[in-house]
Amino acid sequence: MKRVETIAEVRAQVRAWKAEGLRVGFVPTMGNLHVGHLKLVEAAREHCDRTVASIFVNPTQFGPGEDYESYPRTLDADLRQLEQKSTDLVFAPPVEEMYPGGEPRTWVNVEGLDQYLCGASRPGHFRGVATVVTKLFNIVAPDLAAFGEKDYQQLAIIRRMVRDLCMPVEILGVPTERESDGLAVSSRNGYLSESERSLAPELYHHLLQARDAIQAGERNYPELCRTMSRALEERGFTVDYFDVVNAETLAPAGPDDRQLVIAAAAWLGKPRLIDNMALEIVGA
Ligand code: PAF
Repeated sequence: MKRVETIAEVRAQVRAWKAEGLRVGFVPTMGNLHVGHLKLVEAAREHCDRTVASIFVNPTQFGPGEDYESYPRTLDADLRQLEQKSTDLVFAPPVEEMYPGGEPRTWVNVEGLDQYLCGASRPGHFRGVATVVTKLFNIVAPDLAAFGEKDYQQLAIIRRMVRDLCMPVEILGVPTERESDGLAVSSRNGYLSESERSLAPELYHHLLQARDAIQAGERNYPELCRTMSRALEERGFTVDYFDVVNAETLAPAGPDDRQLVIAAAAWLGKPRLIDNMALEIVGA
């Protein structure tokens, strides 16, 4: 496995692979890798001849008061895990390599999709994500890039961006990796105390309950979401949102929508946990 810090080195390596006719897969990360990230690497490897991973804690997607400074930076452990998964190239640039002029003047805004769910409470977050992913795609020029379905809104925004801007990258969504009790694996789970950790899977359990209710015919989504939010609050969560949305537009779903996502975000002590579940309404 080769590790590089400059854009020029990534481009030279990828150019050489492409000259050999090899297909290149890409997994962008902010490091602090866990089994969910490694699943992304495995998925990219299955579809491609060479795999590139990036490790970059992107300052432009953190809002004021968010955890940019304290975000766990575990480069050595990350490199070991990537090596074990036979990653071919790791791009771990310093901030100045990605943002040489400081804050960029050019931003990628995927309008509309960023106003719902996490976008509503994290203004500017998805603009930072879309911008850095565009830069990384321009640097790596991958044939395919893998993203986790856990960050459903991020995945939907990137799919839309790639479509709108004719980016020549295939986007692969990879199912959420879960602990044995159902908690979605996340870098931020490390912030949970022992008692919070045992409560945390309730978020997933309430998504399952909401899914069962919808499958049993419930169509009053606002009322269903209010009930689920109240139940989570009673268990000790501070709910940011619990919504049923249209899977493509992310707008609140109406009774006629068929492709749905139930998405939730809630604080449990320090960390804000997110999770989601897709479902399709078949029949009436
Ligand atoms: O999902 C993440 O870790 C980040 O949002 C990403 C896609 C690496 C962009 O910084």
